[in-house]
Amino acid sequence: MGKIIAIVNQKGGVGKTTTTMNLGYALAEKGKKVLLVDFDPQSSLTICMGYDDPDGLPCTIAILMQHMMEDTELPKEYVFHQQRNGISLDCIPCCLELSAIEVSLVNTVCRESILKGILQEQKHKYDYIIVDCSPSLGMLTINALAAAQSVIIPVTPEYLSAKGLEILLKNILRVKRKINPSLEIEGILFTMYKERMRLTQTVEEIIRNTYEKEVPVFSVRIPCSIKVGESTLQSQTIMQYAASNKAAAAYQELAREVVNHE
Ligand SMILES: Nc1ncnc2c1ncn2[C@@H]1O[C@H](COP(=O)(O)OP(=O)(O)OP(=O)(O)O)[C@@H](O)[C@H]1O
Ligand SMILES: [Mg+2]
Repeated sequence: MGKIIAIVNQKGGVGKTTTTMNLGYALAEKGKKVLLVDFDPQSSLTICMGYDDPDGLPCTIAILMQHMMEDTELPKEYVFHQQRNGISLDCIPCCLELSAIEVSLVNTVCRESILKGILQEQKHKYDYIIVDCSPSLGMLTINALAAAQSVIIPVTPEYLSAKGLEILLKNILRVKRKINPSLEIEGILFTMYKERMRLTQTVEEIIRNTYEKEVPVFSVRIPCSIKVGESTLQSQTIMQYAASNKAAAAYQELAREVVNHE
């Protein structure tokens, strides 16, 4: 049975989408069967995966959510299959319509479990299902937390992200208590890490000292590199775009840590 990992942080621009795509690819490189799910109406992951016009796609997670909410049958085929350097990477894309779905979730029965119902159908086909969340703590993120076995929290080492982390952890614990008791925190992941910056080190220390007793923090840190931004613009992973880049090695190390955690 596949493990569902949600990539969550209500703060924007911390590397959720980049981590989803690169961790997914790094796991697939290790021979794992991986499904990526874009669960953010901004559809950044969908675009990064090379689908430039998300709203023109025949089937997205928004349409699947609609079916689930109306209790109608899902389409037969809705997973997109890709081959990258001979490595298979599957995804369920997203489109802007998902923001309208979030609004209508409010009046839906079992509104927290709609995504879970969809992923339940896919779980047996994959080793890992990675869900890229939107930068909010609304109903969509609650759905992702309700469906997931574990959470990765990308964090950029700066003061404000330490504050936001507190609020996020509180919310994760609330979901665990009320909806999904087996939910675990896979780890806090430092992204866009600038080794030589004092502030980076100070904030890392604060976060490790404050949380490491209760919440795992990945020992690997994803370095900041202009190549990472360039790779996404080319719809590539950093392993494809610049295999010798430090961020590529870091994402491969992250994949190792995730697999070893089994
Ligand atoms: N390690 C890195 N080094 C340099 N730039 C990075 C790195 N990781 C991500 N970026 C860049 O930072 C920006 C934000 O990254 P990303 O889109 O992954 O964040 P996000 O948390 O998904 O954002 P949002 O909350 O809007 O969904 C992007 O332009 C991305 O290319
Ligand atoms: Mg994103």
